[in-house]
This record gives sequence, structure tokens and C-alpha cells, in this order.
Amino acid sequence: MHIHRLEKIWLTFGIIMLFVFLLVLGVSAFAMGMQPPANYCGDYQSVDSTRLSETPPFDKPQLRKIGDNEYEAVMTAFAFGYSPNQLEVPAGATVHFVVTSKDVVHGFAIPGTNVNMMVLPGEVNQTDHTFAQPGEYLVLCNEYCGVAHELMQTKIIVK
Ligand code: CUA
Repeated sequence: MHIHRLEKIWLTFGIIMLFVFLLVLGVSAFAMGMQPPANYCGDYQSVDSTRLSETPPFDKPQLRKIGDNEYEAVMTAFAFGYSPNQLEVPAGATVHFVVTSKDVVHGFAIPGTNVNMMVLPGEVNQTDHTFAQPGEYLVLCNEYCGVAHELMQTKIIVK
């Protein structure tokens, strides 16, 4: 089989680059200890996504008051929705979202805010937001997750 000289150069370049990328990834992960980003508590948490129904706090997803106008929202994302289905907090509330997925990769985005997370099965994903203005906030899945992806949403009502 005849391979053109330029094709040979390009193939060699591609294969070398593949190994360079794998080397960079390997060194940063194993030698430099790089990990997925830590949460707001400063630690990285994982969870067995197949046993969520028996793993606190995800066995009972809920909104919990943890301080003066401060809440913790433990939520699970699944095809195609979120649990709990709707949250209600007073205006000015700071909500710490603690979210994981029951099945595949989902999104957790609140348009008009800085909240935009990927929700990964097996990982606990966290962010927080202070809802200064009253209103209805839409929570959307922005990672394609299946046939009803575009219907996957929930609401946060700020009174
Ligand atoms: Cu869940 Cu798209």
C-alpha cells in the first residue's frame, strides 16, 4: 500500500501528539495529583450513584434551613427531572445546592444567575447562590440527557 509522504508526516505528527496529550494528562493526574474541582467546603466528595436511595442525604432530597436565611438544598437529578420538584425560599436567602445524579450526566443551570453546574453520577456537585430578588427562578438541564431533555426543569420560588 502506498502512503503519500505528506500523509505519513501528518500521521506521525498525529500519533506523537496523542502520546504527548496522554503524557500531560497522566503526569497532571498521577504525579501532580490534579482532581475534579473541590466544593465550597474545600473537599471532594463522591457517592455511589446506584445506591442513592439508601445514601444520606440523597435518600431524602430536601430543602433544609441551616442558618439565618441560609438553606441547604439537597437535590437529585434524574431523567427527566429534579427532586425535590420545587423549592420555596424567602427573598435574600442564600441556598447551598448539593446535587448529584441518579443516572446520567445532567445540567443544573439557573438562567440570570451564575449557577451553572454539571451534575455527574457518582459525584457530589455543589454551588451556592443568594436570591436577592423575589420571583420565579427556572432551573434547567443544559446537558443533553435523552429524549425528554428539553422538558427537564424545576422551579425555585423566591417570596
Ligand atoms: Cu437532564 Cu438534559
